[in-house]
Amino acid sequence: LPRKALIPLAGLGTRMFPASKAVKKELFPVITPDGRCCSLLQRLLEEACSAGIEQLGLIVRPGDESTFSALFEPVQPEIHQRLSDAAKTEEAALMRMGKKITWLTQEVQEGFGHAIYCAREWVGEEPFLLMLSDHIYVTNGNRSCAGQLLDAFQRHGEKSIISLYPVQGERVCHYGTGAGTWLDNDLQTLELTQFVEKPDLAYARQHLQMQNLQEDTFLCVYGQYVLTAEIFAILAEQIAANQRQRGEFQLTSALAELSTNGRLLGFQVEGKHYDTGQPLAYARSLAGFAGLLN
Ligand code: G1P
Repeated sequence: LPRKALIPLAGLGTRMFPASKAVKKELFPVITPDGRCCSLLQRLLEEACSAGIEQLGLIVRPGDESTFSALFEPVQPEIHQRLSDAAKTEEAALMRMGKKITWLTQEVQEGFGHAIYCAREWVGEEPFLLMLSDHIYVTNGNRSCAGQLLDAFQRHGEKSIISLYPVQGERVCHYGTGAGTWLDNDLQTLELTQFVEKPDLAYARQHLQMQNLQEDTFLCVYGQYVLTAEIFAILAEQIAANQRQRGEFQLTSALAELSTNGRLLGFQVEGKHYDTGQPLAYARSLAGFAGLLN
C-alpha cells in the first residue's frame, strides 16, 4: 500500500474570504459526530493515518509553515493542566501525528498541478495518496474512504486511481468530471477515457454520460487520488510547455493525459462526502457531519 500522503495547503482561500484572511481555511473548525471540535486539517490527517499512511507531506506557501505547525506543537503548560483527560489524549495524538509531517513549500502560486509538482522530490518514485482539505469523507462501512481507495489501487496495480462520486448534472461545473468504461459488474471501478475540469452541463451531457447511471448523473472527483510517479513527468512537460488552464497549471490537465493513454482508473467509494470549500456548503456540511440534520 502507498505509505505517503500529500496534502496541498497553499491555496489562496479566496472562496472563504474574508474569514480566511486571519485563519487558514484548512484550520476552520469542524465538529465530529462524537462532539469533538477539531480543524478540517486534523480530520483529514486522521483519515489518512487511519488508512495506513505513515508519512504526511504538507505543501504550504512561503511563511505559512508556522501557522499550520502550531497545531502539532505542545500546548502551553498552563492550558495543558486544565484540559480534560479526553482533550489530553487528543493533544498526545496530535503530537504523534506531527512527527509524521514533512513541510514542503510551493514558492509561487501557480495552481494545483504546480503545487503537486513541487512535492516530486519528497514523493520520489512511490505511488502516493493525494487529499484535498475541502471535503470531509464519511464511509458507509469500517474502512475509511481513503482506505477503500488505497485498497482499490492495490487490487488494480500500477495505475493511478481517483475516487468518484455520482453528482447531479447542475453541479458538475464545480468539479473534475470523468467518464469511461466499467471494469466490473457492480459499477465500482472504471477505466477513465475522459477527464475534464469543471465542464458545463451541455458538455457533460454530450461527452461524459456513463452507462448504468441515472440520467443527468455524472462522476465527479472530490479530492482523493492515488497517483503514480508518472504524474510528475506529465506535469513537468506541461509546465515546460507553459500549458495553463485559467492561468494556472492544473492537475486535471495531467490526469486527462493519463486517461487518454488508458492509465487512469476511477473508483466509486462506499461512502459520502461533505463539501467544506464553499461558504454555504460548509455551513450545511458542519451541521450534516455533526449529525444535526438526522
Ligand atoms: C479541485 C480540482 C477539481 C475537484 C475539486 C474538488 O478544484 O481541480 O477537479 O473536483 O478540487 O474539491 P478546486 O476546488 O481547487 O477549484
